[in-house]
Amino acid sequence: MTTTLITGGTVVSATGRGEADVLIDGETIVGVLAPGSQLLGTDLAASVDTVIDATGKYVIPGGIDAHTHMELPFGGTAASDTFETGTRAAAWGGTTSIIDFAVQRYGERVEDGLAAWHEKAAGNCAIDYGFHQIIGGVDDESLRAMDSLIDEGVTSFKLFMAYPGVFYSDDAQILRAMQKSADTGLLTMMHAENGPAIDVLAAQLAEAGKKAPYYHGIARAWQMEEEATHRAIMLANLTGAPLYVVHVSAKQAVDQLAWARDQGWNVFGETCPQYLYLSLEEQLGAFSEEWGQFEGAKWVCSTPLRSRVEGHQHHMWQALRTNDIQMVSTDHCPFCMKGQKELGKDDFRAIPNGIGSVEHRMDLMYQGVATGQITLERWVELTSTTPARMFGLYGKKGVIQPGADGDVVVYDPHGHTTISAASHHMNMDHSAWEGFEVDGHVDTVISRGRVIVDGGTYHGSKGDGQYLRRGLSQYLV
Ligand code: URP
Ligand code: ZN
Ligand code: ZN
Ligand code: ZN
Repeated sequence: MTTTLITGGTVVSATGRGEADVLIDGETIVGVLAPGSQLLGTDLAASVDTVIDATGKYVIPGGIDAHTHMELPFGGTAASDTFETGTRAAAWGGTTSIIDFAVQRYGERVEDGLAAWHEKAAGNCAIDYGFHQIIGGVDDESLRAMDSLIDEGVTSFKLFMAYPGVFYSDDAQILRAMQKSADTGLLTMMHAENGPAIDVLAAQLAEAGKKAPYYHGIARAWQMEEEATHRAIMLANLTGAPLYVVHVSAKQAVDQLAWARDQGWNVFGETCPQYLYLSLEEQLGAFSEEWGQFEGAKWVCSTPLRSRVEGHQHHMWQALRTNDIQMVSTDHCPFCMKGQKELGKDDFRAIPNGIGSVEHRMDLMYQGVATGQITLERWVELTSTTPARMFGLYGKKGVIQPGADGDVVVYDPHGHTTISAASHHMNMDHSAWEGFEVDGHVDTVISRGRVIVDGGTYHGSKGDGQYLRRGLSQYLV
């Protein structure tokens, strides 16, 4: 067992900041102490194994990315990060826990889907990991199987109002699954887009010869996100299910969430960095020497990037301040351009959907602090504390306090990073954030007491990460 002391830094929580030293014994935080504290007359710094000087830096709870898709089979291929490469990249970026989505498809058993995800992740992860369960086929059997998810430490499940023929659930299926959610305390997560209508629009665009990536964003109109978000809210309210809407991108969908929350309902929303920074016009409509109009494929994801002219990005930052949106995850689902995104070279409908950002979430969200859009405390809340509370990890994760896991990041506000595929650690041949200049820098990452990233060197190894058996959401009233 090693002991680690982080000295001289400013410890930041969701509710405040202060100068303090953090003492970690083995895997666990055992003290948050006045700077330079002695313990029983002994100089602490002289008696621990490792001292980390955090002078001038922030000491924050490790990031929790509650929405990732390592190795997700999608569109005839699979997300290019394995649990090994994806969790290592996450660690580099100051994220010390992920919650990935195990998949059950129509006709498959939920237990088999979950077991398959355990198989992929076990022994491969650099950081701790938990699972949500995708229910891609709601029927008597899968509804019965959901009863045992809580015992497995899987306390949330995702339904899709999009992707007919793949993960899609109709309203009758959603209603039944939400009744199960209300009965059991499982949190319902929703991909809220009207898939059947979107597929018609997409087919009509393709028929008219509009097949470039840009039209992915046109087909997936904001009205289809607003409508599905409203429908999900009403079904949740009817059944008494708590509802968490994933990857919210349209300002009108945010307004639906705000309205439901103003009624006092258990409705929550997550957004992702791409919806805060990137747009339909600049990215989906991009052109390059190498790829021509197909350049935009790098940013094909669902929900899609929205119009900057319509002001969605600005509205989303505001929603982070007003708490109409409670947390930020990445929806990390990377595909390479070569051999993967390329599958849709002639038709945007065949481009595998997803952006890879697991490595950059902490930095990208810190820009909100650097530019005065959110407070330092809100940064920690959005990226660590609320994800922990929302998904039943708080106390162990999401906070620096005695008894919590020693998941700590030393963040240098004076550092600087230029994001590039040439230097990132994700298994992707491009970056959705190529050339982005970010203020701030992840200096040291400690996962359950072990220093896994320090000053640009990786000290972790695959299998360091353990399965997180999650409790019920601690965010519900
Ligand atoms: O484009 C995305 N979001 N791909 C991952 C699957 C999903 O819907 O979350
Ligand atoms: Zn989704
Ligand atoms: Zn997703
Ligand atoms: Zn630095």
